[in-house]
Amino acid sequence: PFSIYERLRQTTPVRYDETRGCWDIFRYEDVHRILKDPATFSSKRSLERGNTVTILTMDPPRHSQMRALVNKAFTPKMVNDLAPRIESITSELLAAVQGKGQMDMVHDLATPLPVIIIAELLGVPAEDRQLFKEWSDALVKGSADSSAEAFERVMMEKDKATKELGAYFAKIIGQRRSQPKDDLISVLLSAEIEGEKLSDEEILGFSILLLAAGNETTTNLITNSVRRLTEDLALQQQLRNDPTQIKNFIEEALRFYPPIQAVSRIATEDIQIGGKQIMAGEQVVNWVASANRDEAQFTDPNTFIIDRKPNNHLSFGFGIHFCLGAPLARLEGLHAIRAILERLQDIQLAPEANLEFIESPFVYGVKAFPITFKA
Ligand code: HEM
Repeated sequence: PFSIYERLRQTTPVRYDETRGCWDIFRYEDVHRILKDPATFSSKRSLERGNTVTILTMDPPRHSQMRALVNKAFTPKMVNDLAPRIESITSELLAAVQGKGQMDMVHDLATPLPVIIIAELLGVPAEDRQLFKEWSDALVKGSADSSAEAFERVMMEKDKATKELGAYFAKIIGQRRSQPKDDLISVLLSAEIEGEKLSDEEILGFSILLLAAGNETTTNLITNSVRRLTEDLALQQQLRNDPTQIKNFIEEALRFYPPIQAVSRIATEDIQIGGKQIMAGEQVVNWVASANRDEAQFTDPNTFIIDRKPNNHLSFGFGIHFCLGAPLARLEGLHAIRAILERLQDIQLAPEANLEFIESPFVYGVKAFPITFKA
């Protein structure tokens, strides 16, 4: 899509799309300014089917209070403490395929890793992991064909999974309330801001948000990064020789192949952006994937430069809704890529592979990524 974005940045950087009934914003400067101004560009949504109210769809002052509360639970220490687990799960997953000389990166590593980590973080007992994985898969599932029937079926599966997962978490929340453990749900139950605590319903909504916001995105971060490694074998070797550069590599992979392409807002008042008149109540879709390649912001935007400085990409959003899970996603990306480079040599896209992209316009990633390698 990146060459299309480039053309749109030049021809119609702010455009109204009649078919979808919303504005599209393609330049870095405009996207940045919109995300910086939650008073004029609200995150509130109408409550469609299955949508719950979470911090993602709140505005200040409620957002600020809730975000402060969940920040207390989602601390850098809590995330960093997960490093050994991320390492050992990655090792286990790679050990299972290492002897085969080939694997599907999406299926064998990039999907299970974030799901297992989130499950452990929340405090899902080991015996329930499989059940949990099926629900969270259903939650992020897109439909393979775009017919109305297929769409309807996927929506129903999602509704069902949300209900079952909801009942499951309600049970865990009840258990942790009487007997706290060392997990995120217990921390959320005890977290407090100015005497205010989260209700069971809010904790439930937040747990489901973590699954929905954190799993598929991290899967795509890992797969998109590996895809980049297969596109540049010299880079692959460079990172093997100097693993300290992997951190920067992940950052540039986030800019170059962003797992989320766009974030949406609703204008709360009439306002001009890029010379266009946006009216109160209209939807504004901010294309971070385009902003990340804006030549006005990044030199040589279509070149992958691992030590790009500064690299203020918008892949985790910007401002008050900046991704809560960014430190966790970065950590998982770092450990996954480090282990992959250590254990697998000469990683290449499998010769017969035919890359199929995920259909959603807001997600950037492939459905499967078969690779070959030498152990
Ligand atoms: C918010 C991207 C991983 C939890 C966001 C936003 C973006 C984003 C763009 C801002 C949305 C907006 O402004 O409307 C990503 C990407 C990820 C990732 C690219 C992986 C590479 C995660 C993970 C978690 C997570 C692992 C949790 C475990 C959240 C939450 C919010 C959020 C809770 C809402 C924050 C708020 O509204 O204050 N993410 N995310 N994300 N993300 Fe992530």
